[in-house]
Amino acid sequence: TVLVVDFGAQYAQLIARRVREARVYSEIVPSTMPVSEMLAKRPAAIILSGGPSSVYAENAPTVDRQLFEAGVPVFGMCYGFQLMATALGGTVDDNGAREYGRTPLAVSKPGSTLFEGTPAEQSVWMSHGDACSAAPEGFTVTASTDVVPVAAFEDDEKKLYGVQYHPEVMHSTHGQQVLEHFLYRGAGIKPNWTTGNVIDEQVAAIREQVGTKRAICGLSGGVDSAVAAALVQKAIGSQLTCVYVDHGLMRKGETEQVEKDFVAATGANLKVVDASERFLNALAGVSDPEEKRKIIGREFIRVFEQAQLEILQEDGPEVAFLVQGTLYPDVVESGGGTGTANIKSHHNVGGLPDDIEFELVEPLRQLFKDEVRMVGAELGLPDEIVQRQPFPGPGLGIRIVGEVTKDRLDLLREADAIAREELTAAGLDREIWQCPVVLLADVRSVGVQGDGRTYGHPIVLRPVSSEDAMTADWTRMPYEVLAKISTRITNEVADVNRVVLDVTSKPPGTIEWE
Ligand code: XMP
Repeated sequence: TVLVVDFGAQYAQLIARRVREARVYSEIVPSTMPVSEMLAKRPAAIILSGGPSSVYAENAPTVDRQLFEAGVPVFGMCYGFQLMATALGGTVDDNGAREYGRTPLAVSKPGSTLFEGTPAEQSVWMSHGDACSAAPEGFTVTASTDVVPVAAFEDDEKKLYGVQYHPEVMHSTHGQQVLEHFLYRGAGIKPNWTTGNVIDEQVAAIREQVGTKRAICGLSGGVDSAVAAALVQKAIGSQLTCVYVDHGLMRKGETEQVEKDFVAATGANLKVVDASERFLNALAGVSDPEEKRKIIGREFIRVFEQAQLEILQEDGPEVAFLVQGTLYPDVVESGGGTGTANIKSHHNVGGLPDDIEFELVEPLRQLFKDEVRMVGAELGLPDEIVQRQPFPGPGLGIRIVGEVTKDRLDLLREADAIAREELTAAGLDREIWQCPVVLLADVRSVGVQGDGRTYGHPIVLRPVSSEDAMTADWTRMPYEVLAKISTRITNEVADVNRVVLDVTSKPPGTIEWE
């Protein structure tokens, strides 16, 4: 394992990801972890991330010098570089040598461990106030910039390396190569991390954590909970029970997919609770989006709790664990987020009831979404589950603008199924991040069909392109595909006489309409 010590920047996540792109397993640890604890993890190498502080600021995070003396190869980046410099007797000062953004780097030692085979001049991404003016004793300066005399250094004997810039960001043109040189050449690590390793490691860890007790897992039909469940299933088999709450707001075929495909692929114990009536009753007469979201979230937890209670009462070992499909980005985001405006009340599977105590099993905590997909595929889950586009927990309940009724849900399910079928047929599933299909249930317009006047509802297509759903743009998809979808929906779905395209980015619009 390579440890990435996080000094409080979002960069740590990206570094971890780059290390894994180099096929080396990495884990992030907080800079507050004592060095002895870091070393106890027997890391093959340690990377010190960037951070927002100045090394001279009061309460600036730091590391014990011991870290550099343990014989473990260390690579310091930006703030980490400056920490290494000061800890080992180099000079870092605030001499006004600020650099932000793309900067040309002059490599003075092209044959050095980090820079071998990379150009003498390369573009790097800088973001610093303080700068290193003298490297510690024993170190060779390997690169500089117009304003920073020491932009990279190394002590190849002690296996200590550092760069002032951010090799992990894309704008540093040879960053990945430099990082790989550290890992392979500097630290002598072999690139052999694969998703198969993750599975073996997690299976062992889950077995150890759960022992002979039982665990439960909420399934939503989404990628994360499905892969988490499949992984835990592989580890503890029949000690796991999965609970799937059918709230009646799923798209066509999705519940069956969980009931059949998931079980077929994993052999998991699945408890399906059909609560559609209950949800419909609770939603009767409600059109306000936030109220709908709150009702769905609340009912969901009630049904889920009830199912948990039933499982708790079955004979067998204690049910002490709850499996959650928490991903790495969720872990990072939940750390911050204070003071952000509540745009929408999100709800997800497995909200923890207050009075039942479970220990969490979160086997995907260290993974990014695409890695989760790879693990899912490796575990034998079908593409329909593994490659699924995001779908909100409240389901079609927030894609009907107006009151949610059974008839409207059925209508929307048909329209949505047509759109999905055509998008898949046109090979657009990867290009489009997701394509909500929305029913404007409270809007009617006049149309003409088969020589008669109609007075029906519009369906909105909302195809978006995005990286992370935080921002999005509407997808410029081919007119022919739009035409096909429009013709089919207006012909095949009763009460729909118009299809419109949403051409709003996010912001100002959100992806979902509610
Ligand atoms: P918005 O509409 O806020 O959506 O731009 C951003 C992303 O989040 C999804 N979404 C949800 N996912 N529970 C979820 O699990 C929710 O309550 C929820 N609401 C929105 C949405 O589909 C998009 O991918």
